[in-house]
Amino acid sequence: DEDERTERIEAALAELGDDVVILGHNYQRREIVEHADFVGDSYQLSQQAAEADAEYVIFGGVTFMAESADIITDDEQTVILPSMEASCPMAGMAEALQVDAAWAEITAAAPDADIIPITYMNSYADLKAFCASQGGLVCTSSNAHRAFEYAFERGDKVLFLPDKHLGENTAYRLEMEDEIAKWDPWDPEGKDAEDVAESDIILWDGYCQVHERFREEHIEQVRAEHDDAKVIVHPECRREVVEAADKAGSTATICKTIEEADPGDTWAIGTEIHLTNHLQRWHPEVNVLPLCGDACMDCNAMRQIDPNYLTWVLEELLEGRERNVIEVAPEEKDLANVALERMLEI
Ligand code: 13P
Ligand code: SF4
Repeated sequence: DEDERTERIEAALAELGDDVVILGHNYQRREIVEHADFVGDSYQLSQQAAEADAEYVIFGGVTFMAESADIITDDEQTVILPSMEASCPMAGMAEALQVDAAWAEITAAAPDADIIPITYMNSYADLKAFCASQGGLVCTSSNAHRAFEYAFERGDKVLFLPDKHLGENTAYRLEMEDEIAKWDPWDPEGKDAEDVAESDIILWDGYCQVHERFREEHIEQVRAEHDDAKVIVHPECRREVVEAADKAGSTATICKTIEEADPGDTWAIGTEIHLTNHLQRWHPEVNVLPLCGDACMDCNAMRQIDPNYLTWVLEELLEGRERNVIEVAPEEKDLANVALERMLEI
């Protein structure tokens, strides 16, 4: 039962002491965040990984986050992901080989332009390495606008991968919405060389299948039911949803907004349901509502980190066995690190 499992996790952590640090993304289950030394958004977790001294970094999150932690930590540190099934579908929508082929077409469409590729953190290490090799960098939802500014100081055009919605929302934030071309690698009609030649921002056709399901109707409904409700959404939501909301931001911005709300305020949250549930528990003085109508906005990838697996990897460490180690190939690691370092610097 849960009490017994909690005792086992606590006993293992007590024995492992400073050898282990647990990092947990805001979307992790309650039973994981309760044991985490640090809970935060993707950017904060990469900073925490960079600062961690522990021999083992146990990552409560998805594969691309654990990979980034492996890239950022020292070679002697080991990153462990309690479930190897925790893979973000969006990260799989821009595979490095496929991007390589697209890059040839995109650069041919605008032969005189300097195109800088930016990849969202939600991507695999080989794509991060590719971006660095072309002068580009990584960003998260909390610094995408700064990454675009960095790129436009050095080049003429940006190719943004994989999330078209974050890309579009960032273009609006920079008042560059008239500069958007879409690139759909799965559709021959969706790859328009003329558009690429004429536009400064080229958006890869990826998306998050959790955030894409939020609709303006959800916002209308919550406003009809609670006339004092304010709405905050994640920038992976569609443009119309971000426009209809009062505020948009990374999961850390969402947490801060609720932390700073006055008692009795009502906020509807358009993001993964576990974070909304945490905020309800952490801030009972604020009326926190899920912005999802009847749909359950649950990230299947994040949910794979089951507390039973956390217990297992910790108890295996006590026996001297390292399970589910995430190790980025050495030939990708250095370049991917350049792309991440560029982000941490901006
Ligand atoms: P944050 O960087 O805002 O934590 O978002 C990560 C993520 O995967 C959102 O779906
Ligand atoms: Fe990926 Fe979306 Fe899950 Fe975030 S919420 S990890 S983007 S599938």
